[in-house]
Amino acid sequence: MHWLYLFSVWVHILAAMTWVGGMGFLVLVVVPWLRAGNRAEAGKFLRETGERFRMVGWSCFVALIVTGTVNLYYRGVRPADFARTEWLHTQFGRAITLKLSVFVLILLMSAVHDFVIGPRAVRAIEADPTSSESARLRRYASVLGRVNALAALVVVALAVTLIRGWPL
Ligand code: HEM
Repeated sequence: MHWLYLFSVWVHILAAMTWVGGMGFLVLVVVPWLRAGNRAEAGKFLRETGERFRMVGWSCFVALIVTGTVNLYYRGVRPADFARTEWLHTQFGRAITLKLSVFVLILLMSAVHDFVIGPRAVRAIEADPTSSESARLRRYASVLGRVNALAALVVVALAVTLIRGWPL
């Protein structure tokens, strides 16, 4: 079943690329474009792109969890290993525990951003883009989105050390 393992790693990397790339596009292209001026219907645009990307992002998370679990299985890792101090202190054990911890943080931040702050910010912008409420919610959504993007870079770095060892 080596092909299944290779297929799983392929899907895992594609899901990571889609999610990280999509976030990069939002942060580096869409948000600066919206901020550059009085864009007509900015609220509607944000709502529609945000809702679409939310579906893409959460589908990527599901794919990452499923394929990540398959990858771990093929690398010989079993659930009981996470309770063995000896395994947790290996370089692989350390890297995967850290990676999964940052991933859980990402899931929490994404849930707050995608289902609470983001929709509230969009509603406020649609009601009155110049209100202090929409500026405040926009700031929160932007900070959460940026911290999430940074956490994504950390997870990819941890994924690299998982396979190739720590740099020092
Ligand atoms: C935001 C979430 C995630 C991102 C961005 C991500 C990214 C990556 C990347 C880029 C690789 C390839 C590393 C390399 O070959 O250098 C990788 C490998 C791996 N990931 Fe993830 N990952 C995520 C979540 C997960 C989760 C949730 C699990 C476990 C349940 C997991 C388990 C693994 C394993 C075991 C490998 C090694 C695959 C192999 O056998 O070569 N990852 N990950």
